Amino acid sequence: MVSLPLVPMVDLKAQYDTIRVEIDAALARVFESAAFIKGEDCALFEKEFAAYCGAAHACGVANGTDALTLALRAYGIGPGDEVVTVANTFIATGEAILLNGARPVFVDVDPVTYTMDPARVEKAITPRTKLVLPVHLYGQPAPMPAIVEIAGRHGLRVLEDAAQAHGAEIEGRRAGALGHAATFSFYPGKNLGAYGDAGMVVSNDADFVARVRQIANHGGGASKYDNVVLGTNSRLDTLQAAVLRVKLRHLDRWNRERRARAEAYTKALADTPSVIVPREMPRTRSAWHLYTLRAGNRDGLQAHLKAQGIATAVHYPRPIHLQPAMAAAGGRPGMLPVSEALSREVLSVPLYPELSVEAVERIAAEVRSFCGAEVRA
Ligand SMILES: Cc1ncc(COP(=O)(O)O)c(C=O)c1O
Repeated sequence: MVSLPLVPMVDLKAQYDTIRVEIDAALARVFESAAFIKGEDCALFEKEFAAYCGAAHACGVANGTDALTLALRAYGIGPGDEVVTVANTFIATGEAILLNGARPVFVDVDPVTYTMDPARVEKAITPRTKLVLPVHLYGQPAPMPAIVEIAGRHGLRVLEDAAQAHGAEIEGRRAGALGHAATFSFYPGKNLGAYGDAGMVVSNDADFVARVRQIANHGGGASKYDNVVLGTNSRLDTLQAAVLRVKLRHLDRWNRERRARAEAYTKALADTPSVIVPREMPRTRSAWHLYTLRAGNRDGLQAHLKAQGIATAVHYPRPIHLQPAMAAAGGRPGMLPVSEALSREVLSVPLYPELSVEAVERIAAEVRSFCGAEVRA
């Protein structure tokens, strides 16, 4: 019997093989300079990534969770304040709010886009609301024009959680420049991923970014041992900045390759019984971080693909309002029916630039054969 190759969810080694020479040279430059903290790659990457997003300023931090936590702190958000956000996300979005002593107010997501439903935002705003925090899930930007319009009417700012959306666009404007500010994660598996942890806050507001930088550097003032506000140590590592500068040059090509594979899945899965494929909204370009299906028998499909050597993942098995860690936010089952249904039905299949189109076709064929057989049974 011929054994078929195993298909992982991501293949960072395959990607490294394509950029090895550039990466090794960039890392060697940092080793030679020995500027491991605040080396020149940090400032250069901040400039280059801000420009990529179409924003004026950026501050590199240690990871995407810190980017959110420090951004909320820079807004002055704390006890007694509320932040309107979604539960159909990674835990970090809610953690950042609770860690600042504020309360996340979760609204449900749209059943087609899986991102914040603007119709629900207005009803969630109270006199305690300080910020609206949508998430660009799976690379699909939340409907920012509608969210910004509603928030603006209430004198509120919008912070984008763009951890999964490097290069996503609405009407030609990129994630990072669609609200007042945005936070990014460069976790290795992201569209733009470091070789460790890294994150960034991006904004056109110079004072806001300066406040983030101050908090991320021990509340620093004019000199090194001048500590003006209570801060922390959350700097972008120079080695990661050097890696990210190399990888930023490839991001648009990689995003195009993700798109081609997403389109191949969508074509191959058209009209598959009990499967809903992801949809891109008009005037919007997803960054296609993940290709996430909805399947009637999600767990059965996942087990079938696993048996065929195809890795999959569930993003996410429990909406965060039902996580014990979020108990202080007062979430209850049944409160967010769309988010809760998604957590039972979603399944992400492999999607990365180095994935062969033949592998996409093979995975899609396995999905079709499982779901077709289910319907016939
Ligand atoms: C939507 C979202 N927000 C925040 C984060 C946190 O980023 P990090 O893992 O870099 O702390 C992630 C990362 O996985 C994410 O997907």
